[in-house]
Amino acid sequence: MTEAPPLPRHVAFIMDGNGRWALARGLPRLEGHRAGMETIRGLARHLGKRGIPYVTLYAFSTENWRRPADEIRGLFRLMAQSIKKEARALHENNVRIRHLGRTEGLDAKIVNDIAEAVELTSVNTGLNLSIALNYGGRQELTDALRRLVAAGVKTEDVNEALINAHLDTSELPDVDLLVRTAGEMRISNFLLWQSAYAEYYATPVLWPDFDSTEVDRALADFAHRKRRFGGL
Ligand code: IPE
Ligand code: IPE
Ligand code: MG
Repeated sequence: MTEAPPLPRHVAFIMDGNGRWALARGLPRLEGHRAGMETIRGLARHLGKRGIPYVTLYAFSTENWRRPADEIRGLFRLMAQSIKKEARALHENNVRIRHLGRTEGLDAKIVNDIAEAVELTSVNTGLNLSIALNYGGRQELTDALRRLVAAGVKTEDVNEALINAHLDTSELPDVDLLVRTAGEMRISNFLLWQSAYAEYYATPVLWPDFDSTEVDRALADFAHRKRRFGGL
């Protein structure tokens, strides 16, 4: 009898390469973002089927505000259009949606749409899908420390579990597999604390081309990793 290969509990994706995908086709960058949204739909369905309980997507970083205003505007218009629609479909599939990141700085309308999607799906027991939007790992840690200080926590009471409990990801397990598309070999301020022992998988495939076959490739790669967590 062959044993089932080990599956990651929590897979996080740095969805990169939308712009390059569009550029290669002579299209405006926004068309790349549009195609990237389509990828998400297939991905959530596929990972749910494969039995992965936690999936986190990096949709917009705190550093992405440095982009040209018209790209940011277009990107948020696209996200606003899909949140409502996708939330309903995800809800029907028993998916629970969470938001990671700061709400300050975001448009009130999109904050409201996100809150509604989170609320609508809050009792679901299937795939846990977290969207990192206006998210930065350093900002998240800064906010957590501010809350601890404001609560007057005593020095001797500060420990890893307490810090963890004050992060946006307090309800999620650590990241097991961190996937980055489009070839870059960097973490770009994503889940710094939570990825301390994540297995890293980088592929040159651009996000809009990252289909089920590519997902399975990443999972198969993970299955062969020997995780030691500092031990032998
Ligand atoms: C990822 O694609 C999407 C976001 C960061 C919002 P990019 O827009 O970074 O695509 P490239 O890196 O320019 O190809
Ligand atoms: C990381 O991609 C952020 C998201 C995928 C949302 P970027 O394209 O912004 O990363 P850098 O700037 O190349 O590091
Ligand atoms: Mg990029």
